[in-house]
Amino acid sequence: AAAEKGGHDFFMLKEIAEQPAALADTMLGHLEDGRIVLDEQRLTDDDLRDVDKVFVVACGTAYHAGLLAKYAIEHWTRLPVEVELASEFRYRDPVLDRSTLVVAISQSGETADTLEAVRHAKDQKARVLAICNTNGAQIPRESDAVLYTHAGPEIGVASTKCFLAQIAAAYMVGLALAQARGTKYADEVAREFAAMESMTEAVREVLDTMEPVRELARSLAHHNTVLFIGRHVGYPVALEGALKLKELAYMHAEGFAAGELKHGPIALIEDGLPVIIVMPSPAGRALLHSKMVSNIREIQARGARTIVISEADDVAAQTVADHFIPIPSTPTLLQPLVSTVPLQVFAATVAQTRGYDVDKPRNLAKSVTVE
Ligand code: G6P
Repeated sequence: AAAEKGGHDFFMLKEIAEQPAALADTMLGHLEDGRIVLDEQRLTDDDLRDVDKVFVVACGTAYHAGLLAKYAIEHWTRLPVEVELASEFRYRDPVLDRSTLVVAISQSGETADTLEAVRHAKDQKARVLAICNTNGAQIPRESDAVLYTHAGPEIGVASTKCFLAQIAAAYMVGLALAQARGTKYADEVAREFAAMESMTEAVREVLDTMEPVRELARSLAHHNTVLFIGRHVGYPVALEGALKLKELAYMHAEGFAAGELKHGPIALIEDGLPVIIVMPSPAGRALLHSKMVSNIREIQARGARTIVISEADDVAAQTVADHFIPIPSTPTLLQPLVSTVPLQVFAATVAQTRGYDVDKPRNLAKSVTVE
């Protein structure tokens, strides 16, 4: 069993370490002569050109990948994108027709809620594209097209490497749409793709610097609550960080959009409460960055212990951080591929410190095949 886990104590830790490969393998072969090819697809460029609205449906971690996809797809294609929990989508009569593209994201391809959402979309004549990690699973079988993530089998119940692979796959769908619609020139598409490819190295770099995060996690393992805040793409990352901590460490954890702090969550801040902050790039997103620095000051003044994830040379963030977790500088839309990693390591280490089985958290199943 130790060999199966590649020398790690848990499959999940092995899977966290496999993320550079999961990203690279998911992207492999999808750029040909400067064009994005979604090779397993049965949607033509004409089909993609006809799309006037995109829905992303998913559950759990895959839903967080969907939230991130919205930022990229809307930015690149100017198409409206709605992201919805699969369990809510089909019960509220969503507006769908032939020109709607529904992207269903599911690691297992067997999640009952997501499958039912796909069926509902097909009944309404929408086109359905599945992003899936499991060959021949039910969701890809019932979809019009499939883009497989090639993360390899994921054994740990809490999804890690599939999350990064799902982000890459959903972004490739965005680039394919942009290319078909002409909202991006070929050289721009190729440049975005190359930037995504270079993230493999950036993720590796982050993985190599996780010891201080493990130390921090061990020192905070006795806490009852941890809050996470972010803005823009840092917001879904905050939600994912909180989900990981709930799933693995059974700790009360919540993610918020930092701008919402004043509308309620700031009332939760008390002396010594750990708050993990996902910072936007100081150069790339200067305005958002300065708003986040103010947010951090506000919670620090109320006693929060601030744990700040930001680009290594972010001096302003370092001055307000009780603990600083450096990540490499990346294009804004790609930052989640690196900023998520410390949050995965943090949650896994808290759970291990508390003596829990990281691979099989209580009450959870790897794939949820009942609604
Ligand atoms: C379960 C797993 C999660 C996963 C979710 C969606 O709740 O524990 O890790 O994110 O299902 O699974 P799917 O296979 O549809 O991606």
